[in-house]
Amino acid sequence: MKKKLFITRKFPAHIVEPLEEFYDIEQWPEEELVIPREKLLEAVAHCEVLWVTLEDLVDDELLSHAPNLKLVTNLAVGFNNIDIPALRKYGVMATNTPGVLTNSTADLVFGLLLATARRIPESERYLRAGKWKSWYPMQLVGKDVSHTTIGIIGMGRIGQAVARRAIGFDMKVLYHNRRRRHEAEEMYGFKYASLEELLQQSDFVVIMTPYNKDTVGLIGEQELALMRDDAVLINASRGGIIDEVALYETLNKGKLWAVGLDVFEYEPIAMDHPLLTLPNVVALPHIGSASIKARTDMLMLNYNALAAYGQGKAISNRID
Ligand code: DGY
Repeated sequence: MKKKLFITRKFPAHIVEPLEEFYDIEQWPEEELVIPREKLLEAVAHCEVLWVTLEDLVDDELLSHAPNLKLVTNLAVGFNNIDIPALRKYGVMATNTPGVLTNSTADLVFGLLLATARRIPESERYLRAGKWKSWYPMQLVGKDVSHTTIGIIGMGRIGQAVARRAIGFDMKVLYHNRRRRHEAEEMYGFKYASLEELLQQSDFVVIMTPYNKDTVGLIGEQELALMRDDAVLINASRGGIIDEVALYETLNKGKLWAVGLDVFEYEPIAMDHPLLTLPNVVALPHIGSASIKARTDMLMLNYNALAAYGQGKAISNRID
């Protein structure tokens, strides 16, 4: 008898169909709509393997509804949607997608740096609104990115890829991380800083740290107050790392040059969210890894884990 696999979203058929060799597959038929929680709890009752996106919460409640579950594959590198202690308690393995979205996410961070500093979305809105009447010296002037200081909070794979890109812009790189990156310091001249120093000294603060109990609300009122009045804040990790109320209040007081957000505490962000009323907030719908190559590679990493499990082979990219 084939193992039962449940997939919480409609993924590309050419990636899913070959798995029919190993699995009896059921799939939520919607590409865009998240499976309602009660349907997910029903669906997991019989499955041995579950393929989820970052929007599906795999917690104690779900696991208690899934007596046969052995493996969860997560279509993301971040796994804050998975309760790891609960997984251990139920003896379930999990895999994620490290490595393959590093460059696409670091590229997007630089897109946000340039978009915020040089007011690119605002300038485009200006043109489309028919406001462009002439060229004049101080029209839509922004901040330079080159020859400034970038402070990266979270120096994992993606943080380091952002830092390497910053060298090309002649930026001084400060970083804050749980562990020192001595090799990167020696090789590229990146400088370790305390969180406080980094916030005080950076022109651009970039959040790349994972989202967990230690980083919830890491950037709140006090931390925002430490930043330079004309600094830019970028977040391409997870929304809950920034206190959005404090951020709105800070921006509303005229502090900070701009903010670039690819992630929000609640996604999709509500259209009446106060942050969306501010012209110097560049907001994107969580597209850090949204290149054709990165998304295909992510699907393929999950596919490989599923194919390996289906054949009784060792699984790579296990979350410990
Ligand atoms: C991840 O993989 O964690 C990203 O946020 C989604 O691409």
